[in-house]
Order: sequence, then C-alpha cells, then structure tokens
Amino acid sequence: MFWRYLARPLLFSLPAETVHHFSMGMFHASMFPPISSVMGRLTRVRDPRLRSRVWGIDFDNPVGLAAGFDKQAAWFNSLRHLGFSHIEVGTITGVGQAGNPKPRLFRGPDDQALINRMGFNNVGAEQAAAALAATSIKPVVGINIGKTKLVDVEHAVGDYLKSFRLLHPFARYFTVNVSSPNTPGLRTLQDRGPLKELLVELMKENARLANANGVTPRPVLLKIAPDLNADQVEDIAALAKEIEIDGIIATNTTISRSDLSTSAARIQEIGNGGLSGKPLTQVSRNMVRELYEKTERTIPLIGVGGIMNGQDAWNMIGSGASLIQVYTGFIYGGPLFVKQLNRFISQQLADNELADLSQAVGMNV
Ligand SMILES: Cc1cc2nc3c(=O)[nH]c(=O)nc-3n(C[C@H](O)[C@H](O)[C@H](O)COP(=O)(O)O)c2cc1C
Repeated sequence: MFWRYLARPLLFSLPAETVHHFSMGMFHASMFPPISSVMGRLTRVRDPRLRSRVWGIDFDNPVGLAAGFDKQAAWFNSLRHLGFSHIEVGTITGVGQAGNPKPRLFRGPDDQALINRMGFNNVGAEQAAAALAATSIKPVVGINIGKTKLVDVEHAVGDYLKSFRLLHPFARYFTVNVSSPNTPGLRTLQDRGPLKELLVELMKENARLANANGVTPRPVLLKIAPDLNADQVEDIAALAKEIEIDGIIATNTTISRSDLSTSAARIQEIGNGGLSGKPLTQVSRNMVRELYEKTERTIPLIGVGGIMNGQDAWNMIGSGASLIQVYTGFIYGGPLFVKQLNRFISQQLADNELADLSQAVGMNV
C-alpha cells in the first residue's frame, strides 16, 4: 500500500535515472546493522525448498537481480538485504566509459515497461576490480562483461579477455553479454562464428587462470537477446552443447515496439533503446522454453524478462529456468517484490507437493 500509493507515485514523478541514483544512495547509506538485519528479516522467505545448487553454487532462493542495476559493482552488499539470492553486477567493459547522453532511461507505465539506452556507462574493469578487491563480497555476485564502445567488433575478444582477467578473482560466475541493443555492432557477436571464437577464448583463459591461481574455473554464461530468430536460437543451442558452455541467460531487452499501450507519439519521442518489463514476459518465457528443449535440458538457464509477479516467476521456472532474474518488475514492484515472488513460488511448491525447486524446473515443458 505504502509503496503503491505513496512512494512509487512520488518517485515516478522524477526523472528515472535521478531516482535510481538518489534512492540507491539513500538505501546503501542506511544498510548498516541493525537496520540491515531488520530489512533482511522482512524480505526473506524461510523455506528450504527454495534453495538450489547450480554450477556448484548454493542459491538461497531462485530470484536474482539482473545486470544493469548495479553497473559499478557498488551496491551489491546492500541489495542482498532485499532478498535476492544473487546479484549480477555490470555490464563492465574493458575501458571505462560515460555511456550515451542523458536522458537515456524512460518509464512506460501504461505497459509496465522501461526503455533504456544507457550504453554501458561504467567505470571499466580495472576500477571495478579495485572496488571489488576493497570490499568483502557477501552475496553471490555474478559479473557481466561487455565490449567497450570504442573497441571495434573485430577486436572484441581482447577487450572481453581484459575484463575477464581483471575480474576473475571476484566473480562467482561470469556473464558474457553480447545482446545489449545500445552498443553498435555488439549483437553481431551472437552469430555463430564470432560467438564461438569469443566463448572458446574466454573458456581457455578461464582454465588457465584457475590453474595458475589454484581456484576453480568460473561458470561462464551467455546472455542473449529476445530478438533472435528461430535459426539463431537453434545455432546458439547447438554451439552451447558443442563447446559445453555452463549456462545461458535469456533474455536481454528487446528492440521491438509491437503491441504497446503507450502512444506511438510517446514511443517516437523516447527514441532508440531496449524495452523491458511486461511486454517481454511471453517472449522471454518462450525463448527459455525453446532453449530448454533444444539443449535437451542439459544446460542450466536463467530466465529474465518481464517477470512482474509471482505467477510470471513460477511460469518461467516451469518453462525451464533453474534461476530467474528481475529488473523492471523490481522497479515497479518495490522493496518487497522479491519476497512476493519467493512467497508465491514457495506456495506453489507446497500446492504441487514438490520436494524442492529443482523438481519445478521445466515441469511445463
Ligand atoms: C536501465 C536498464 C539497464 C540495463 N543494463 C544492462 C546491462 O548493463 N547489461 C545487461 O546484460 N543487461 C542490462 N539490462 C537488461 C536487464 O538485465 C534484463 O535482461 C532486461 O531488462 C529484462 O528483464 P526485466 O524485464 O525484468 O527488466 C538493463 C535493463 C535496464 C532496464
């Protein structure tokens, strides 16, 4: 009630990016004991059936924070008090960059959507690594890496490798982002040839670093766009099996603007960018289902895109997602959103007499 009728209308009356930094700054500053432990208790759902182990990592529940929220890897220790089982920081690029000119983040409340063309604004891998080294990392942190805008697509591998090396000690898993619509040429890295080269080089480096430093190799996940056609999805599933990639995250934002309630004039005024939120719900879920089938259930998937309530979360898991992530739903749903999702999932596990989450994964496929 407080969120829906008071806090959200107030925050939504201000520019979206300003609110993001202001509210997170306040939240981060206030997350010290005992406030953080009260917050943690308020947002946690105590149900051991929500736990799972994927890639040898223990997750308290299936709900994580999607990439793009904590782009500078600055807030993850505070964000865990909102109930997330994992937080994906980044996208981080080889070289720091300012991103696109503002305004670059827009709300579409009639569609429960966001449109962004942030353009990977981030401090760069070196500074992010220094910040991570200086922090005691408490939650499961995944690190999402992408290409620096000024680096040509032909030299992308070196740029990804640079971030991978610098950030390797701090990542519980890596996400290779080749699917943001806001870096020119980035999505061409989803084509089979360049994608194979990129992933194979990262996997080789992963083994080398693990060996040299006496640590386990980090799970390497690929994040894909919802705009791929059936042949491209087929190619990616085949490649994932061939080179034994650890996981796939589906999906990023879409460049499509079909079936929206927001007026065409407003959409035109906003301009380019990736659309997220409710318009993605069905698209992302279908893609997860397709990948689940095409990889013959052998590769763990993270489902993300348009999870706006508990039923969406449950449907995503039933379509084959071992874990889920949220961004736009969290912006609209507020601080208790993760709890609402976990409560719903917990209730469904009980109603369906399932012993744990793993039994629900892919149950509708
Ligand atoms: C403002 C904003 C910034 C984002 N930045 C990134 C990013 O840097 N890297 C990335 O992989 N995805 C990024 N995303 C995509 C989200 O991680 C997610 O895949 C997408 O928004 C779909 O989920 P949702 O419908 O729950 O928002 C961003 C999304 C938003 C709304």
